[in-house]
Amino acid sequence: MKEESLKLSIVVPTYNEAENIGVLLERIRNTMEKAGLGDDYEVIIVDDNSPDGTAEEALKHAKRLGIEDRVKVIVRYNERGLARAVVEGFKNAEGRYIIVMDADLQHPPEKLPEMLRELESGGDIVIGTRYKHGGRDEGLTVLRKIVSLGATAIAKLLLPQTRMISDPMTGFFGLKRSVVSNKLNVLDPLGYKILLEILVKGDYDRKRIREVPIVFSPRYAGKSKLTAGEGLNYLKHVIRLNNYRILKFALVGTTGVVVNEAVLWVTHYQIGLPLYISGLLSIESSILNNFTLNNVFTFRNEKTLVPLHKRLARYHLAAGLGVTINYITLLSLSYLLGIEPLIANLIGIVAGFLANYSLSEHYVWRRA
Ligand code: GDD
Ligand code: MN
Repeated sequence: MKEESLKLSIVVPTYNEAENIGVLLERIRNTMEKAGLGDDYEVIIVDDNSPDGTAEEALKHAKRLGIEDRVKVIVRYNERGLARAVVEGFKNAEGRYIIVMDADLQHPPEKLPEMLRELESGGDIVIGTRYKHGGRDEGLTVLRKIVSLGATAIAKLLLPQTRMISDPMTGFFGLKRSVVSNKLNVLDPLGYKILLEILVKGDYDRKRIREVPIVFSPRYAGKSKLTAGEGLNYLKHVIRLNNYRILKFALVGTTGVVVNEAVLWVTHYQIGLPLYISGLLSIESSILNNFTLNNVFTFRNEKTLVPLHKRLARYHLAAGLGVTINYITLLSLSYLLGIEPLIANLIGIVAGFLANYSLSEHYVWRRA
């Protein structure tokens, strides 16, 4: 990172934002001057060599506005991607605080002083939220809104670090430079969601996350670069940040099925115990098998404060809830909706798995 010499660095990733960048710079300048910070900030535009000439346009407008010494334009020639562009911005930031925002004016620059105040008063990270304290989303189509809520649910399921945050998908957020200054080599985001990367890998105190409501407006000009392909990138990114625990958990679950069947075979067919006893023994064996493997494999690197005996008790609850949901789904889908039981059961297995995994991640192996 560059030496600290300013209060605020505003990092703006751009790709084909030539029509927006002038208005953005003007609103940033006016806001910062009004807040009395006219000479204590910089804007770092990280442009991936946009064919529409965004970089040249940015320099031209910076001159017109008399802020050419406040505006840095970094052009990346061999790379595309929002999140990694932001990391490049961090490397060049001289501010004690950094705020990341989009160039298309969906994020109101007028909120910058309020976000900065949250950082100056002790916040490690400040999040511009659309979903709390009067924040609003006026910029997404219904379809995008559904996708965004689904993506939020996935993040909350897989990443405990996002659980308490109302809008982990936001692209408008700020941080103290110390949150990322020692992590620049470990930040390796894929796609769009740089904030998730920071929430998982950054140096910060969870109690020092602040939220500021924002109104997410429609784009000023141009169009979104978020394509369907980013959806796949998003899933890959989140599963990577999850350290593949959900996949390990599923793998462990399949070993549990094998154990369950094997114990039933031994106790019922070989030893001759009655089925109602063998059935219980085989189910309990698979629960113990899954607990042990999840403990030494799936959650091995997670520092939990829950003592082992409590983990074991809680895991029984998680597994019990999983099979209960499986059962209820099976019955209600087939009795009420007439769905073929084998299919209904498959849906039930997935629902039960998600419940079991979710409780395991957030309750059984709950982190410090
Ligand atoms: N350097 C660079 N490289 N910048 C990019 C790239 C890229 O490949 N792709 C997009 N950007 C820039 C855009 O120019 C814009 O300034 C900003 O990143 C956001 O891109 P949009 O294409 O406008 O994204 P969006 O509006 O669909 O999504 C935004 O809203 C989401 C909330 O629903 C982003 O802020 C997301 O991060 C946010 O989650
Ligand atoms: Mn946008």
